[in-house]
Amino acid sequence: MRLQDKVAVITGGASGMGLATVMRFLEEGARVVIADYNAVTGEAAVAQASTAGFGDAVSFVRTDVAREEDVIGMLNSAIDSFGRLDVVFNNAGVGGAIGPLTETSVEDWDYTFDVLAKGVFLGIKHAARILREQGEGGSIINTASIAGISGDAGPLVYSAAKAAVINLTRSAAVELAPERIRVNSICPGYISTPLADGGRPERTRAAFAKAQPWPDYGRGEYIAGAALFFASDDSVFVTGEELIVDGGLTAAGPGISKTFPRSSARTAKYSGITKGSTGEEPVLRKL
Ligand SMILES: NC(=O)c1ccc[n+]([C@@H]2O[C@H](COP(=O)([O-])OP(=O)(O)OC[C@H]3O[C@@H](n4cnc5c(N)ncnc54)[C@H](O)[C@@H]3O)[C@@H](O)[C@H]2O)c1
Repeated sequence: MRLQDKVAVITGGASGMGLATVMRFLEEGARVVIADYNAVTGEAAVAQASTAGFGDAVSFVRTDVAREEDVIGMLNSAIDSFGRLDVVFNNAGVGGAIGPLTETSVEDWDYTFDVLAKGVFLGIKHAARILREQGEGGSIINTASIAGISGDAGPLVYSAAKAAVINLTRSAAVELAPERIRVNSICPGYISTPLADGGRPERTRAAFAKAQPWPDYGRGEYIAGAALFFASDDSVFVTGEELIVDGGLTAAGPGISKTFPRSSARTAKYSGITKGSTGEEPVLRKL
C-alpha cells in the first residue's frame, strides 16, 4: 500500500476525478478528507467509501475553496479527524465563464478565477503552513488542464486560470522545496466526468475517442493514478512538474496528418528519406 498512514485532503472529492482519487487513495491505505461545495454528493461519496469498507478512514467537510476560512477549516479538519496532514489535492473546479470574450463580465471572470486559481492558491498557502509546522515535508497536487497550455482546449477565462495554476505550482515548488514540500500539477485532457460531459457522456466520449490518438476515452481513474504517483514517495524527487494525462491529445498538436493523410506514417504508401531543397533525389521504397 503506497499511502499507508498518510492523510490526504481532496477538494472536489465528491465527483468525477476527485472521487476516483478518493477511492484510490483509500485503497492505498490513506485516510481521506473529502472537501466539496456540494454537500449532497459529498455525503454520497462518504457513503460509497463506507460501503467499500473505508468508513473509518473517510470524512466530508463542506467547503468553498474560494473562501479562505473554509480552506483553513478543511485542513484543520484533517488534523482533528486523523491527527496529521501529508497530501493536499487542490482539484475542485467548474467550467466558469463561457461565451465570447467581448461578452464576458468582470463578475464571471472573478467567479472563475476565485474557484480555479484563488482556490488553489489558498490550498497551497494553508497546506504549506501546516506541513511546515509538522516538519516532515508533504505533497501538494493541483489540477490544472491542457487548457492551461493551449489556446483552444477550453473557455478563455478557464484556460487563463488553469495557466495560472501551472505557474503557481512551479513558483510554490521552488519556494517550498527546502522544506521537502513538493508541489506538482496534473493537466488532464478530456476525462469523462459530470463537468466535462454536461449530461451527455456517450456523445462526448465518442467525440474525444476520435480527436485524441489513444482509442479509449479518459476516465477519472487515470487522473487518480497520476495523483497517486505525486502523493507517494515514488515521486520524492519530482517537484514543480506538470504531468499531462490526455491520451496523446497535446502530443498530436496541430494534427497535420489528419489534414494531409498522405503525410501520416500510419497510412503512408512509401518509406525512405527525402532530402528537401538539397538538389538530391529522395530514396523511397514502396510499401
Ligand atoms: N473532466 C475534464 O475533462 C477535465 C479536464 C481538465 C481539467 N479538469 C479539471 O479537473 C477538476 C475536477 O473536475 P471534474 O471533471 O472531476 O468535475 P466534477 O464536476 O465531476 O467535479 C468537480 C467537483 O468540484 C466541486 N466544486 C466546484 N466548485 C467548488 C468550490 N468552490 N469549492 C469546493 N468544491 C467545488 C464540485 O461540487 C464537484 O464535486 C477541475 O479542476 C476541472 O477544471 C477537468
